[in-house]
Amino acid sequence: MYGGGYIPPEEQGKKIPVDQEDPIKLKEFEDRIERGEKIEPHDWMPYEYRRQLIRMIEQHAHSEIIGSLPEGTWITRSPNFKRKLALIAKVQDEIGHGQLLYSAAETLGKPREQMISDLINGKSKYSNVFNYPAKTWADVAVIGFLIDGAAIVNQLINSKGSYGPYCRALERICYEESFHLKQGHDNLVALATGTPMQRDMLQDAINRWYKPLIHFFGPPDTSSVHSDKLMKWKVKLASNDDMRNQFLDQYVPKIRELGIDFPDPNLRKNPETKSWEFSDPDWDEFYRVIKGDGPCNEERLDVRRWADEHGKWVRDALFNPSEKYRIPLA
Ligand code: COA
Repeated sequence: MYGGGYIPPEEQGKKIPVDQEDPIKLKEFEDRIERGEKIEPHDWMPYEYRRQLIRMIEQHAHSEIIGSLPEGTWITRSPNFKRKLALIAKVQDEIGHGQLLYSAAETLGKPREQMISDLINGKSKYSNVFNYPAKTWADVAVIGFLIDGAAIVNQLINSKGSYGPYCRALERICYEESFHLKQGHDNLVALATGTPMQRDMLQDAINRWYKPLIHFFGPPDTSSVHSDKLMKWKVKLASNDDMRNQFLDQYVPKIRELGIDFPDPNLRKNPETKSWEFSDPDWDEFYRVIKGDGPCNEERLDVRRWADEHGKWVRDALFNPSEKYRIPLA
């Protein structure tokens, strides 16, 4: 049984194209969005709006959970106790963001178990950036400042969107993310103003994360598949290129003022168009990574599979408390 009108992929035959929706209901729905009203879970919504939201919020939830893994590998290797505590708290926050987002997606009718199963079976996507390794402590600084900075740009914009539960989850996430940003900045500045070896390590990490960061906001507007629909229904309030531009506007100066730079001689703001220009970021690599063929995709999903299998007895015990379950010893 699926709640809230969710139609699972195997029943996609029943999918309702937008032009076959009830025109009166569709108009009322679009007028509400136009007036800036929030759509709530029990309100009427077109099938395609529901489908798009589930796709996007679910991918976002998976990204938060998988996103804690690259940094998580550094908890035991943090350079001091203060940094270790901050990193533990941050990783814990990211998992909490995943739970908030799964709850928001559930309001649209897709059960959480199915979302997890779609993730570990490779049916659902999650953010490209988390398929790259965190090789040194400087990667933790770059993730904390630049990846979280990119996520804040995206999430602040999306939090003004039309679907109530997603926007409310994002508002809360943004408060916590802005604290992560301070943690990332403090870490990054410590390395940038440290020994020559620390600066080299930081520059090396920035060099490795530059391309995935450019990819983070999605393909160029001319290749974006979903943007038009999502922007019409105010799920997205800025296009991929606009968000990427806003990010570069805010963060390129912050990196350059530390005497470090992004590894792209063509990265510059065009004074006439006010848009950032950069070298071809190899969109083939982006598509390969989001389809499962990145440096760490397999490793990331293996961890989630392991967690799912080893947590099963807890879920079984919680949901069927009268039955006896053997606690696995290994
Ligand atoms: N990582 C993985 N996949 C991505 C991606 C990224 N950085 N950017 C785009 N894609 C995928 C899209 O999901 C889509 O794939 P699908 O049709 O199989 O779902 C495809 O590339 C085409 O992209 P586009 O049409 O531009 O997708 P979009 O309109 O949904 O825009 C985002 C992409 C990321 C901007 C948008 O989904 C978004 O704002 N998501 C919420 C925020 C989020 O997930 N953040 C993650 C990290 S915190």
